[in-house]
Amino acid sequence: VNVALDQQADLLPYNPNYEFPRERLKLGRPLGCGAFGRVVRAEASAPLYCAIDDSRKQKTKDTTTVAVKMVKQGSELSQVKALISELKILMHIGKHLNVVNLLGACTTNLSNEELLVIVEYCRYGNLRSHLLKQRENFVDQVDHLKDTLDFTIGVKDYHQLEYNAKEITTRDLVCWSYQVARGMQYLASRRIVHADLAARNILLADHNVVKICDFGLARNLYSYANYLKKSDEPLPIKWMAIESIRDRIFSTETDVWSFGVVMWEFFTLAMTPYPGIPKDEFFMQRLIKGHRLEKPQYATSEIYNIMQKCWDKNSSRRPNFSDLENDIDKILEDNV
Ligand code: ADE
Repeated sequence: VNVALDQQADLLPYNPNYEFPRERLKLGRPLGCGAFGRVVRAEASAPLYCAIDDSRKQKTKDTTTVAVKMVKQGSELSQVKALISELKILMHIGKHLNVVNLLGACTTNLSNEELLVIVEYCRYGNLRSHLLKQRENFVDQVDHLKDTLDFTIGVKDYHQLEYNAKEITTRDLVCWSYQVARGMQYLASRRIVHADLAARNILLADHNVVKICDFGLARNLYSYANYLKKSDEPLPIKWMAIESIRDRIFSTETDVWSFGVVMWEFFTLAMTPYPGIPKDEFFMQRLIKGHRLEKPQYATSEIYNIMQKCWDKNSSRRPNFSDLENDIDKILEDNV
């Protein structure tokens, strides 16, 4: 049964414990700019008992660097509503290492009615930009003659635990894929459909930890109902499953399709999917006929195989996120 659950986030409660005093937030430079949202860096000076201070009773640093999401000035009410629903979804999600966690929100006593959503700051920004920036510093650990991985290639001190964000290795790409699968498995267990999973919506934090963000399109689903989206919003066609493009159905299975595209982005070092193919009405026809993304230059057949399974036209034949987590974990374990 497909049920339109567009308004579902409206039904989620607002938890006032997250309320953060606006005067303790100092906004800084912009971090990114989405279709309707704006994200800036900020410093939060945490008082003793407030949403932002994880340890609550323990006073640690005076200030914490955070990321603050807001709608652009002069935005329409619908965009403010979208941020409110994202806020409620973040509250509903709860904490997971591989999801950008909500730290607080400013919803009351606003001078110019700005709604602010405060989330964890991730130092290296989104993985698409990061991969593009660090392309020159990529260490290819695939033995292309044998089509195998060797994670010792290019690593001078193999036991160095310190993560060097400038130098990206094939092992990092596998490790990020694994972490995204874990984060998505958590979201799926909470019955959240992301609906916009892409490398631009995955952030890199310290210690090589990646975090899924941007729940602007996410919807909270109940039971087996698939979410049908409104028809007037722009859609990330090249990341979408056939049934999402054709019928605007979004489900955990369509998130799995997008996950395959994300892995493809990782192993091409952030190429744009289907290079040279326009996002027109024929795009979906090509997918229906069986056209798929080609094997990325930096993937082995084993890794490409995992992506291909995500793009099965039959959604019930796709792996689920816990299958993906296990398959990718195996690649990490077999190649220590
Ligand atoms: N860009 C968008 N969100 C961000 C965040 N939470 N941290 C760093 N950069 C970001």
